[in-house]
Amino acid sequence: MTHIAVLGSSNMDLVTYVTKAPQRGETVTGRDFRTTPGGKGANQAIAAARAGATVSMIGAVGNDAFGLRLRDTLEHSGVDTDFLRTIEGPSGTAHIVVDDEGGNSIVVIPGANGTVDHLAPGDEEVIASADALLLQLEIPLAAVVAGAQAAHRHGVRTILTPAPAQPLPPELLAATDLLIPNEYEAVTLTGRTDPGEAAAALLDLVPEVLVTLGPTGSLYLARGAERLVVPAPRVKAVDSTGAGDTFVGALAVALAEEKPVREALSWAAAAAALSVQREGASASMPYRPEIEAQYTA
Ligand code: RIB
Ligand code: NA
Repeated sequence: MTHIAVLGSSNMDLVTYVTKAPQRGETVTGRDFRTTPGGKGANQAIAAARAGATVSMIGAVGNDAFGLRLRDTLEHSGVDTDFLRTIEGPSGTAHIVVDDEGGNSIVVIPGANGTVDHLAPGDEEVIASADALLLQLEIPLAAVVAGAQAAHRHGVRTILTPAPAQPLPPELLAATDLLIPNEYEAVTLTGRTDPGEAAAALLDLVPEVLVTLGPTGSLYLARGAERLVVPAPRVKAVDSTGAGDTFVGALAVALAEEKPVREALSWAAAAAALSVQREGASASMPYRPEIEAQYTA
């Protein structure tokens, strides 16, 4: 089995379902409210585990009820939580509004994730033993940089989701192998509005770039290789929260299994398409047999 390490956030998602998200100053009545496990790090970990990898989650939760449930959810999907610390204080939360088209807006309160600002004892060893390290930007940047550099010292491939969007320091770019922004992040990082141009500009900074285009699919560029455009299956979105994380987790597994890139992209797109048809972030992520059934070469 392939081994994926994830260094990142765990959040409890506090999700409100509405017909249309309120404007500033407006009050609307929603349809439903759920607390469901999320956080970009934990989401990617769960997606990768369900897609068939051995996964180690590095990060922190609080010593509250949310923390217990977040740890439990990871373990139920088969994720190793030996390196997920429990700290004094609240767990991270994400305050999410999902509209009738399945679109969302999110406010994240870091909580325990904010304490993950360095590598703790044992973290480097876990990273060194993995086929790939998955990183996002919901923990302090210092730890993201330290994790990426540790991975590089051991020849481990680093896959960075630059979300929430923010400027990336050169030392992080230097330790990133595959950068996976969505359209919005690609534009924010480069100032280019066309995803193709943004991807090309990012390729000057890292060896491989993948721009996720939501329901349209994805655009992959690597130095010295042909650009690939891989469409996403057409499905009706119910809740797209965590779809990008599902895509990244499944993709990491497929790449670690040495599937050809085009195939890996379609496989990950199949996983993401399954997840958008169900509510919740990690709750909606498919297990491998479902991905295999949905996948068409
Ligand atoms: O990427 C989706 C995730 O972003 C949600 O699960 C929420 O926790 C926010 O971190
Ligand atoms: Na979903």
